[in-house]
Amino acid sequence: MGYNSMGKVWVLLMMVMMWCWASMAEAEYMRYKDPKQRLSVRLNDLMKRMTLEEKIGQMTQIERSVASNEDIKKHLIGSVLSGGGSVPSKQATPETWVDMVNDFQKGALSTRLGIPLIYGIDAVHGHNNVYKATIFPHNVGLGVTRDPILVKKIGAATALEVRATGIQYAFAPCIAVCRDPRWGRCYESYSEDTEIVRSMTTLISGLQGDSSEKGVPFVDGQQKVAACAKHYLGDGGTHLGTNEGNTILDSKKLFSIHMPAYNDSVIKGVATIMTSYSSWNGVKMHANRNLVTNYLKKKLKFKGFVISDWQGIDRITDPPHANYTYSILAGVNAGIDMVMVPMNYTEFIDGLTYLVKNKFIPMSRIDDVVRRILRVKFTMGLFEKPLADYSMAKYLGHQEHRDLAREAVRKTLVLLKNGKSASKPLLPLPKRTSKILVAGSHADNIGYQCGGWTLEWQGLSGNVTAGTTILSAVEKAVDPNTKVIYNENPNQDFLKSNKFDFAIIVVGEPPYAETFGDSSTLTIPEPGPSTIKNVCGSVKCVVVLITGRPVVVQPFINNIDALVAAWLPGTEGQGVTDVLFGDYGFTGKLARTWFKSVDQLPMNVGDSHYDPLYPFGFGLTTKATKTT
Ligand code: BGC
Ligand code: BGC
Repeated sequence: MGYNSMGKVWVLLMMVMMWCWASMAEAEYMRYKDPKQRLSVRLNDLMKRMTLEEKIGQMTQIERSVASNEDIKKHLIGSVLSGGGSVPSKQATPETWVDMVNDFQKGALSTRLGIPLIYGIDAVHGHNNVYKATIFPHNVGLGVTRDPILVKKIGAATALEVRATGIQYAFAPCIAVCRDPRWGRCYESYSEDTEIVRSMTTLISGLQGDSSEKGVPFVDGQQKVAACAKHYLGDGGTHLGTNEGNTILDSKKLFSIHMPAYNDSVIKGVATIMTSYSSWNGVKMHANRNLVTNYLKKKLKFKGFVISDWQGIDRITDPPHANYTYSILAGVNAGIDMVMVPMNYTEFIDGLTYLVKNKFIPMSRIDDVVRRILRVKFTMGLFEKPLADYSMAKYLGHQEHRDLAREAVRKTLVLLKNGKSASKPLLPLPKRTSKILVAGSHADNIGYQCGGWTLEWQGLSGNVTAGTTILSAVEKAVDPNTKVIYNENPNQDFLKSNKFDFAIIVVGEPPYAETFGDSSTLTIPEPGPSTIKNVCGSVKCVVVLITGRPVVVQPFINNIDALVAAWLPGTEGQGVTDVLFGDYGFTGKLARTWFKSVDQLPMNVGDSHYDPLYPFGFGLTTKATKTT
C-alpha cells in the first residue's frame, strides 16, 4: 500500500469513528428523557418513536396476580394494579411492597423505550389494602365533618402511606352522590348532597398536591400520588340503589346532581377519572361517547386519562364478555384511555391491535390516548424517578396519621338522641364510676369498625390489623378505678347479677363492598337488635352504630337512652371515646337523611315527600367537659 492509499484508509477510519461517536451521542440524548425539555417537546419526541404495539401496551392495565417482570417487558404493559385485597403476601411489609412494585417497574424500564409503568390501588380510606396502614373513616363519615381541610390532610397522609409501599396512583376519591342508601357503596359517598360532595374534592389536592395552573393534571412529585375521581357518571343515582344499575334521570338532574364534583375535580387537576359500571337511561357509561368524550374531554377540557373500571368494558354487553371485540371498540371509541383489563390482557391487546389495524379505531384516537397517559407519567416525574426506595416506609401507619384519623373520627360522629328526655342527657359519660358494660358485635372488632375495602375487598372480621377497638378505647378512656366489663351479647341473668352504671352497645352492619352491600331492608342483623333490646331493657344505654349508611332504628329507638351514628370509623377507635366521655363535644351533622322506613326510599333533602326520622343536617351537640 502506497503512502497515498494509507492516508485514504486513515481518513475513512476517522470518518467511521466520528459517525459512530455522533450516533452514540444521539442514542444518549433522547429528548423525552430530558426533564429540562418542555412537556410538549418530551411528549412529541416520545410519541414519534412509539410503535402501535408500544402504544397499546400503555393502554393496558393488568392485575398484579397475573403480572411479572418478564410479561410486562414482553407485552410492553403500561400499568399494573392491586385489586381489592391483592397483596404481595399476607401482612406484607412496606419493603415487600416496594420490592414487588420495583420488580414490575424494572420490567417496564428494560423495554426499548423504557417507559415507566404506573401502579394503581384502591386507597379509599387510607392505604386500606395494606397491613398496619392507618385506616381513616369511610367517606360517609367524612361528609358529616363538613371539613374540607381535614379531608385534604387525609389525602396528604394517604399519599405518603401509598408512597411508603412504592405505589404512585390511588383510585380515589369516590365522588358519587349516593341518592339511595340501599346502594351497597353508599359509604363510599360523602353525601346525598352535591354541595358536600363538591367540597370534599379537596381530597384530590391532598393526594396530588396543589396545582398552580387550574384544570391541568398535576402530581407534585415523590410525596404525592395521582388521584382518580370515580365513578363517572351517576353511580350513586341508580334505580333502587342497585349497584352497577341504571340511573334514570333527565339530563338537567344528572348534570345538577352528579356532574358538579367532576367539574371541581378537573379544575383541581385530577390526573385520572374512572368510568362507572352503571348506565344512564339505559346506556352503559363505559360506552357513552357523549358524556366521556364530548362532555368530559371537550367541554370540561379534562386533559388527564380516563380509566375503565375492573372488567368494565366487558360489562358493556349483557352477559358480560359476550362480545369482547365489540366491548373494546365501544369503550375506546367512547373515550376510555386506559383499560383495567385486568386479567386476560393478551385478549385485550390482540383485540385492540386488530381493531386499529383494520381502522375500526382510528390511529388519531390511539395517539390521543397515549398522549394523555404519558402526560400524567411525565407530569408526576415518573421518568425521573421510576423506582421507589425504602426511605418512605416509615410513613405507613405513622403516629401523626393515626392522630389525624382519630380527630376525623371525632368529627364524623352524629349524636341522634341524648337522654329519654332532653333535660336528662346521658352524654357525655362520666369517666369515674364503679362499673360499666361494653356489649355488641362491633365493640371489639377492628375489621367491623373499618368496613369493606379493608385488607380484603369485602373487609374482614376480627382484630386483623393495627388499631384500637372501641372496647380498648373505653378501657383507655375511663378512670383506672372504673371497672369495664365486656360481654358481646349478655343474657338477662348476667345483666341482673351485675350492677352496671351504664352500658355502651356497639352494633351495626357487617363489612361489605359493592354489590354484596346492596340491601332492600337496611336492617342491622341479629344479634344486634336483641343486644339492644336486652341491655337497654335493664341498663341505661348508649348505642353506637357502626354502619355504612342510615339503617332501620325506629323499632327500638324508644328503648335507647342515647344513640350515636359512628359510620365506619376505621382503626382509631379512640376518636369515638374522646367524644363519648366528653374530652370533645359532638359536632357532626348528618350528611344523609335518616329515613323512618325503607318504603320511603329514595328520599333526599328537598324532596316533596320528605318525612325523615332525622333530617339532613341534624345532629345534637354536647360541650367538652375538659378543655383540651
Ligand atoms: C370498583 C372500583 C375499583 C376497582 C379496582 C372495581 O370493582 O368499582 O371502584 O377502583 O374495582 O379495585
Ligand atoms: C377485586 C376488586 C374488584 C372486583 C370487581 C374483585 O375480585 O378484588 O378489586 O373491584 O373484583 O368485581
